[in-house]
Amino acid sequence: MGSYQEMYRRSLTEPERFWLTAAEAIDWTRQPTRALDDSRAPLYRWFPDGELNTCHNALDRHVEAGRGDQAALIHDSPVTGTTTSLTYRELLDQVARFAGVLAGLGVAKGDRVIIYMPMVPAAVVAMLACARLGAIHSVVFGGFAPRELATRVDDATPKVIVAASCGIEPSRVVEYQPIIDEALGLAAHQPDTVVILRRPQAARPLGPRDLDWDEAMSTATPAACVPVAATDPLYILYTSGTTGKPKGVVRDNGGHAVALAWSLPAIYDIHAGDVFWTASDVGWVVGHSYIVYAPLLVGATSVIYEGKPVGTPDAGAFWRVASEHGVKALFTAPTAFRAIKRVDPEAKELANYDLSAFRTLFLAGERLDPETYHWASEHLGVPVVDHWWQTETGWPIVANLRGVEPLPLRPGSPSVPVPGYDLHVVDQQGEELPPAQEGAIVLRLPLPPGTLSTLWGDDDRYVESYLSRYPGNYLTGDSGYVDEDGYVYVMGRTDDVINVAGHRLSTGSMEAVLAAHPAVAECAVIGVRDALKGQLPVGLVVLKAGVTVTEEVLREELVAAVRNEIGPVAAFRTVSVVEALPKTRSGKILRKTMRAMADGRDEGVPSTIEDPAVLEGLRGVLRGGS
Ligand code: COA
Ligand code: AMP
Repeated sequence: MGSYQEMYRRSLTEPERFWLTAAEAIDWTRQPTRALDDSRAPLYRWFPDGELNTCHNALDRHVEAGRGDQAALIHDSPVTGTTTSLTYRELLDQVARFAGVLAGLGVAKGDRVIIYMPMVPAAVVAMLACARLGAIHSVVFGGFAPRELATRVDDATPKVIVAASCGIEPSRVVEYQPIIDEALGLAAHQPDTVVILRRPQAARPLGPRDLDWDEAMSTATPAACVPVAATDPLYILYTSGTTGKPKGVVRDNGGHAVALAWSLPAIYDIHAGDVFWTASDVGWVVGHSYIVYAPLLVGATSVIYEGKPVGTPDAGAFWRVASEHGVKALFTAPTAFRAIKRVDPEAKELANYDLSAFRTLFLAGERLDPETYHWASEHLGVPVVDHWWQTETGWPIVANLRGVEPLPLRPGSPSVPVPGYDLHVVDQQGEELPPAQEGAIVLRLPLPPGTLSTLWGDDDRYVESYLSRYPGNYLTGDSGYVDEDGYVYVMGRTDDVINVAGHRLSTGSMEAVLAAHPAVAECAVIGVRDALKGQLPVGLVVLKAGVTVTEEVLREELVAAVRNEIGPVAAFRTVSVVEALPKTRSGKILRKTMRAMADGRDEGVPSTIEDPAVLEGLRGVLRGGS
């Protein structure tokens, strides 16, 4: 572990030097003279006197340096049967013009813009146009229901919403305009304008506050980059927390640009001119960091894929995209490979494609099960690199640094802590645990650049949710252990967050939907193992006395309610009516114990349980998905 060890050590012992050196990869309108500002600890800020524009770093400087004719984005869209490519020059032109459109709508530095779009280049254009103006974007994933969109509108209070008329799922066209109308009917805050990219697959007439994307672009004047403080927010990305209210993770401009530009060559071994493909969605952090910002910051080519691993049209889709575009590395969630493996267990489709340019498969977003690891390694014949991180950190916490020193891969472990992250495993009291003992994974403060600076408009909630459980440390919400050789093993969440097909969801918010049904006295939602999606939510409900509804009807109503209130992405389909939920004698529902049971980890029955037989009776339901 020579060069990795040395780099890791330097990042923690000399963080100023380490990050100021990394900052040299970025163009600043005012070069930072300091890396860390700890004057408001535990809230830290990076590059306090630096000033830059993230869009300039992603586009303008590459065009100025002669990269204008290289593809910046390749949009491969089997659901529309099209593939288009935008060079750095073309992308810059579109972004500058769309920034002009936004500026014309009154959007200025610090204003918020919500982007509700599928996987189309216009989503990237809208994000970078906000960055160009110093405005703050908040991208909302298309699979969420109107109420989730409304919550984000009320929290971010955007001046403008930028949307497409529809997204395209293999089974249906998802019309966005009615979703936006419904969301704005629910929200207290109203944006001034909704800009709509009208796609041929579905476009309704425009309403009084709507503006047609193409029309606005045809007369737009390009806008210049607005320099912002390194510490100014670039975006807000909402993620599921323990409660129903999503957390607005705030990312700054300077630390983000430095960290992402550092991470792509160091972790993914991707450099200017390489083709990198992240098969995720711009609505998730993986999409923000590794479809949009990191590839463009380093001058690489990024593939935006509007399709699925299977069914668009077949299980060879990933190999086709990788071979057609000369992809050097692919990053996706293990669930995508489980989907391919299920349809084409022998990977016969691979024989139809030339993957000679393909070097590495990166997987993250959920636990990488050893079976998927072995299947992918064997069939692709390239390193399959697990890495662990989360929306809050914005870039990997634990990884195998392919561009620094590729270390031996160990199935079940995402490898070692990434420079900048001071990782520890602690017990309930915060005491450091010896190797191989499982506990809470925490990160000693300060977190490195590019990680969340706070939660939008709520420093107190940030401190309370992440920094107060173990003072001086950031709580990741995952448990795990470190082995004798320093390899980290991530075992699962310790809270109510679940991962369904790599999508992060809150069981708390699903419980709130179930609890609102008039027949439900109390309920719990638990993530159970699923062979395809990793985890699936399972609802357990106890009926109010005297309720006459049949279980069948109730189930349909509850499934529809979660779909309507949270969205199809929750994949909520299983509800069981039970006599009782396991509780402590003081009446607290034993969710943690049920979770452990669902995960196949019998942690023993807590001594505080009121009636052990109730828990035992749920064993079949909770293990059902495995
Ligand atoms: N807009 C609208 N609806 C969406 C959506 C979007 N952007 N994305 C998903 N949905 C819908 C799906 O159509 C599906 O609806 P249905 O219940 O009517 O069938 C539902 O949400 C669940 O979607 P998903 O979890 O994606 O399941 P799936 O069965 O359609 O596909 C996989 C399963 C594994 C193929 C798919 O999840 C996948 O490709 N995952 C790749 C990994 C990934 O992107 N992870 C993100 C973080 S890295
Ligand atoms: P998200 O914020 O959507 O990226 O989800 C982050 C959570 O997903 C983490 O806290 C983990 O629980 C889980 N996760 C992400 N990557 C991995 C991984 N490589 N191994 C295990 N769990 C992971």
